[in-house]
Amino acid sequence: MFSYYGSKRQLAHYYADPQHDLIVEPFAGSAGYSLHGNRWRKDVLLLDRDTRLVGVWEWLIGEATRAAILALPELRVGETSREFLSIASVATRTVNSLSTAVVTPSMVAAWEQSRSYLAADISKIKHWHVRSGEYTDAPDVAATWFVDPPYEGYVGDGYAYGSPGLDYIRLATWIRSRAGQTIACESGVAGYLPFEPLRAGTDNPDDAHAEFIWSHHTER
Ligand SMILES: C[S@@+](CC[C@H](N)C(=O)[O-])C[C@H]1O[C@@H](n2cnc3c(N)ncnc32)[C@H](O)[C@@H]1O
Repeated sequence: MFSYYGSKRQLAHYYADPQHDLIVEPFAGSAGYSLHGNRWRKDVLLLDRDTRLVGVWEWLIGEATRAAILALPELRVGETSREFLSIASVATRTVNSLSTAVVTPSMVAAWEQSRSYLAADISKIKHWHVRSGEYTDAPDVAATWFVDPPYEGYVGDGYAYGSPGLDYIRLATWIRSRAGQTIACESGVAGYLPFEPLRAGTDNPDDAHAEFIWSHHTER
């Protein structure tokens, strides 16, 4: 939908397709999994602790139109932008705050591209739902659960709520108790679940960019 730090948009095709009518993303970010291919046609429920991010989703699911998105202001080099959607959309490791950022030429180009992705996808999400809250606030239902928390040990400002705020042992218990199909994402260094490489032969634990998953399917 929009670019976002840690977005799964580029990797989305490596994850198993949803087997249930409902997809829940309890660490929503930009919901890269649910937007891949035809997955957006499912019922989709997003949760995120970041109220600014949820506010953007509420606007996109609600009143936003293609024209309104294309009319969103451009970023200008050198200005200090506080506009959350554009900043989050261009956030990289070099942008050290999601609240304000001094705009660089590459951020201008990234926002242009992000705005056009948004406009192209806006009609897909009008039946989705979003809630602000903790992952534990998600309803206890059988669904396809795509669980993509800030990775354990990640230190940085990519998120307003990152890994220091999470108890990963508690998270592991919660992940294991989901009903339906569960796909949990992590890097190779996390040990709270028996994660396996997402791409066999490519993802190994020594690589900082490696992607790992834990998958599970229950009868219910
Ligand atoms: C790795 S990002 C998700 C990326 C997403 N899969 C995508 O494609 O863009 C993690 C998200 O978890 C959110 N988050 C952090 N702690 C949370 C919590 N306790 N409950 C719910 N969301 C949380 C962050 O605000 C962030 O948006």
